[in-house]
Amino acid sequence: MPKLQFPDNFYWGAATAAHQVEGGNHNDWSEWEKQNADRLARESEQAFRWNPNWKKFAAAATDPKNYISGSACDHYSRFREDFDIAQSLHHSAHRFSIEWSRIEPEEGQFNEEAIEHYRTVIAALRERGLEPFVTLWHWTLPLWLAERGGTASQDFPRYFERYAAKIAGSLGSEIQFWITLNEPDVVSAHAYLKGEWPPQKKNPLTYLRGLHLLIRAHRLAYQAIKQHSPAAQIGIAKHQIAFQMARPTFINHFLKAIADWGWNSFFLNRIKNHQDFIGLNHYNRSVIDNGFRKNPNKTQTDFGWEYQPDSIYQALVELKPYNKPIYITENGIADASDELHQKFIPAALAAVHRAIADGADVRGYLYWSLLDNFEWDKGFWPRFGLVAIDYATQTRTVRPSALAYAEICKNNALETAVI
Ligand code: FCB
Repeated sequence: MPKLQFPDNFYWGAATAAHQVEGGNHNDWSEWEKQNADRLARESEQAFRWNPNWKKFAAAATDPKNYISGSACDHYSRFREDFDIAQSLHHSAHRFSIEWSRIEPEEGQFNEEAIEHYRTVIAALRERGLEPFVTLWHWTLPLWLAERGGTASQDFPRYFERYAAKIAGSLGSEIQFWITLNEPDVVSAHAYLKGEWPPQKKNPLTYLRGLHLLIRAHRLAYQAIKQHSPAAQIGIAKHQIAFQMARPTFINHFLKAIADWGWNSFFLNRIKNHQDFIGLNHYNRSVIDNGFRKNPNKTQTDFGWEYQPDSIYQALVELKPYNKPIYITENGIADASDELHQKFIPAALAAVHRAIADGADVRGYLYWSLLDNFEWDKGFWPRFGLVAIDYATQTRTVRPSALAYAEICKNNALETAVI
């Protein structure tokens, strides 16, 4: 059977984020959830009627409890069990995030117990042969910082630098791969352009200012980590959209160039001297047709996003000019039935393989997500996990797609028969 072989030492695994899996968090999001759960439940039909899958999740989406992260996957206490599963699935890496609000619950007061918790998490990964990819900020903020204006505060870069320095000083010798920021552009756009996520302050100038402050925050954190651990490999997890032209018209070329510059390159260009690798988060393409978005929308995932496993090829190839190693830090779909998942993973990996053959220096693939989890303002109904969670009992069930992925991880190769 012909095989698509991946490079030696390729990292295989999955990703999570603290607020989405840990449970028991007390931060800007947990407070926002309490204030907005009723409204989100009430507005859900209006917000999701366009999604052909609405009926499948209507019961969950109209229930206010869906929007409270609460104990989430209780991963804060069950991380060993979850890492046992990742190990049994032949993963060799795992991405997780450190929850800033646990580390620095009050300004400048660091909680050593919380730091010890993450030391134990890192050790538990290493004991199971899983290389940790550690995210410092996956969107949630300590309350004191949110009250001071969060990422739009002039002082944000300084606060982030201090937090990064603290983690580097405490855990630096145990971490090789660092992701300072997760999708700074996505979270800023939802908070300040759409005004949908906390702090729901719609203002394009604040959006732009926030982005600049995040750029500065990353650079300062990069330097602080390097001071403690010169060999650290540091990047961000960047959300890249594959912008495609419906037809190669002059206008479409122009619009693609603007979209690529504004969304895909702006942030990366500004941190290019402060990153050792690029973390790619990829979910969507966008087809441009003379100013209109023309996605054919044939098959859709539960989320209502177009099923488009191949577009990761374009996203990877377009990162080649940076000449940096690339780790895929997120890629996945929401699919409770698991039927699409089973097709998606091999199809996406075939596209990754093609990008490697065409010169993209891809060194790892971390699926989103290891576990079903709390999907921000959508709550619990979207099922992105390789492992299903029954939230009432916290029972974990490995999905068939996870077993198929495990074979690929084990063989470091994809049988072409499964594509
Ligand atoms: C990404 C986020 C991640 C998760 C996936 C579905 O944009 O980084 O936390 O919500 O989308």
